[in-house]
Amino acid sequence: MKEIEKIDEMKRLRQQLAEPVGLVPTMGYLHEGHLALVRQARVENPSVVVSIFVNPAQFGPREDLKSYPRDPERDLALLEKEGVDIVFMPSVAEMYPAQFSSWVEVGKITERLEGASRPGHFRGVTTVVAKLFNIIQPNKAYFGQKDAQQAIVIKKMVADLNMNLEIVTLPTVREPDGLAMSSRNAYLNPQERQAALVLYQALSLAEQLWSQGEKDAERIRQEMTALIQKQPLAEIDYVSIADAKTLDELDRVSPPVLVSLAVRIGKTRLIDNIVLE
Ligand code: PAF
Repeated sequence: MKEIEKIDEMKRLRQQLAEPVGLVPTMGYLHEGHLALVRQARVENPSVVVSIFVNPAQFGPREDLKSYPRDPERDLALLEKEGVDIVFMPSVAEMYPAQFSSWVEVGKITERLEGASRPGHFRGVTTVVAKLFNIIQPNKAYFGQKDAQQAIVIKKMVADLNMNLEIVTLPTVREPDGLAMSSRNAYLNPQERQAALVLYQALSLAEQLWSQGEKDAERIRQEMTALIQKQPLAEIDYVSIADAKTLDELDRVSPPVLVSLAVRIGKTRLIDNIVLE
């Protein structure tokens, strides 16, 4: 496994890789969710590249960039075991040199949900992902359904800008008790870890109400909200029932529907979602 820090070196090595090339973009501190993406990329491509880059451009000024968990040595050991060919781990100066001034912005769908709560977040994501696509030129890139809106936004960018690759989205990997795997789970103390289950409980409640025939989206939002509010450590950012393609909030549940939520547990902001098909 090669560890590459320089863009020129990555571009040079790319020329020697057997195609198709699969890319798994990450911010490191890898968990089973990332490894599921890597394994799928390994199955589908003779060459697999994983990027590790904590992208400052997608963090707001009051967000957790400085404290974002990092453990590159452990990440590299895990990726070596998965048979990854190249790990691309550039510095911030390599990706954003002093004179950097070009940004990729996707329209309307980035203004909702995460975009509404985290202004500028998706501009940072699409810019860095576009840069990674240009540098690594993957044939396929793999993203987790846990960041459902991110996957939708990246697919839109790829379609709108005629980028020449396929975006693969894989299901959310959960802990045995239902908590979606996330690098940010590392922030939770034992009490908060228990409280964090409320996200999955609220999503399960939505699925249950819908399968019992409930079509009134507002009623489902209210039931989810009431359940989360019973958890004293939880503070709701949003609870959404939206069209899975446009992300428009719905009055009536008409599949495919993205049920998503962002909830603060103590100081940690967690997101999760399910799709009602
Ligand atoms: O999902 C993530 O870890 C990041 O948003 C990504 C796609 C690696 C871009 O920085």
